[in-house]
Amino acid sequence: MSQAASTRSTWSNRWAFILVAIGSAVGLGNIWKFSYIAGASEGSVGVFIAVYLACVALIGLPLLMAEILIGRRGRGNPVVAMLNTAEESGNSPYWALLGWVGILGALMILAYYSVVSGWMLDYFWQSLAGGVDVKTAEEAERTFGALMASPMRLCFWHTLFVALTTAVIARGVVGGIEAANRIMLPLLFLILVLLTLWGAVVGDMPAALRFMFNFKTEAIKPGVVIDGMGHAFFSLSIGMGAIMAYGSYLDKKTNIGYTCAWIAIAGVFIGLLSGAAIFSLTFGYGLTPAAGPGLILQTLPLAFSHMPGGWVFAIFFFLFVIFAAWTSAISLLEPFVSWLTERYGIHRARAAWSTSVPVWLLGLAVCLSFNEWSGFKFFGRILFDLLDHLATRFMMPLSGLAIAIFVGWRLGKTIVADEIRLKPRLFGLWFNVLRFVVPVGIALVFVYELVLRDWLQ
Ligand code: TRP
Repeated sequence: MSQAASTRSTWSNRWAFILVAIGSAVGLGNIWKFSYIAGASEGSVGVFIAVYLACVALIGLPLLMAEILIGRRGRGNPVVAMLNTAEESGNSPYWALLGWVGILGALMILAYYSVVSGWMLDYFWQSLAGGVDVKTAEEAERTFGALMASPMRLCFWHTLFVALTTAVIARGVVGGIEAANRIMLPLLFLILVLLTLWGAVVGDMPAALRFMFNFKTEAIKPGVVIDGMGHAFFSLSIGMGAIMAYGSYLDKKTNIGYTCAWIAIAGVFIGLLSGAAIFSLTFGYGLTPAAGPGLILQTLPLAFSHMPGGWVFAIFFFLFVIFAAWTSAISLLEPFVSWLTERYGIHRARAAWSTSVPVWLLGLAVCLSFNEWSGFKFFGRILFDLLDHLATRFMMPLSGLAIAIFVGWRLGKTIVADEIRLKPRLFGLWFNVLRFVVPVGIALVFVYELVLRDWLQ
């Protein structure tokens, strides 16, 4: 362990870390998931967004800091980081289980994440080849349906995406992860600003904002609350070791608190901006946001087909989504790969490519769960939904809870204060939120979800 620690890479500087963490945070979650959950919570989008923002501030941000703290203090992959910090603070080595949940959970997410990213590659390709030309909602639905019904296409794009992700990880922390983010993130941001401006000109921005921010208290329902919290976890990449692994390459000088504030603000901002762009087009063309995972692949192509310069817009839009997905996917692969290299001393490239194989295989099963294997249901869900459900509704909140308990109650204030160097009042605020608000918040949502929801709805 100590050997591994001495040869560990470090990000080039503090901004590089902020960049890669934002790259991890901003992804399909902020664009694809956000718009379809918002679209589906009709009449209560404002509530969903309010809950999401509250959860980012009260649960997400404190947890993000705690997770990075463990990574940096533990100086190792999530399993080793948990072991080291547990040992240093005189706690049971079983805390390392939390690291295991993280590195394996991240691979599980990656398996379906890369399938959805594959859809984006497919639509990008179609846009390059002249555009997804759909004139009616039925046509849009049929076009998307055709992709879902084709195992070949799904598997092909999924394979390509896994390869792209692995190739970055194989090149190393600074040469791969950091370099990829340095190129993609600024471009992503530029494209988003252009898309939003363009979307405001040809679309209906006031309607989009009204849709997103109309807050009606009577629309507060437990389902919306858990959606908002789940989304806060997912969109900040919390609880799956990804941010912990990134944090382990962070130098000692960087202030974790301010850095995390940047990450959270950027994540929220980019999410809301892309939501505004998407809904502005949706309403501008008299469309209703379709509920379900196909939203940005059905509603938007319809808008693209009707707007001036639509296919150029489409190319840039899908490029934007692909960049966002790619920089997130690499953060899902990194934790396990870093474990493999540190545990067995294998070369990074070999570790990366061997890890990609099981992910790829599970992803193939996910591709088939939309068509050939759609009959196989687990608890009434196809494999794709099952994995997403397990990860966002159970694994992330539970490991978030465990992280809060570990850092808030077990690690000891000396270690914690040594890592989080905030002014005493700010530190106290953060620490108390982490100790009380975060666990109670997560627990309440759980009770709601598991016990009360069916009664109340
Ligand atoms: N945050 C990413 C998104 O919004 C997804 C993601 C990347 C993630 N790494 C993660 C989610 C780690 C949970 C845990 O698309």
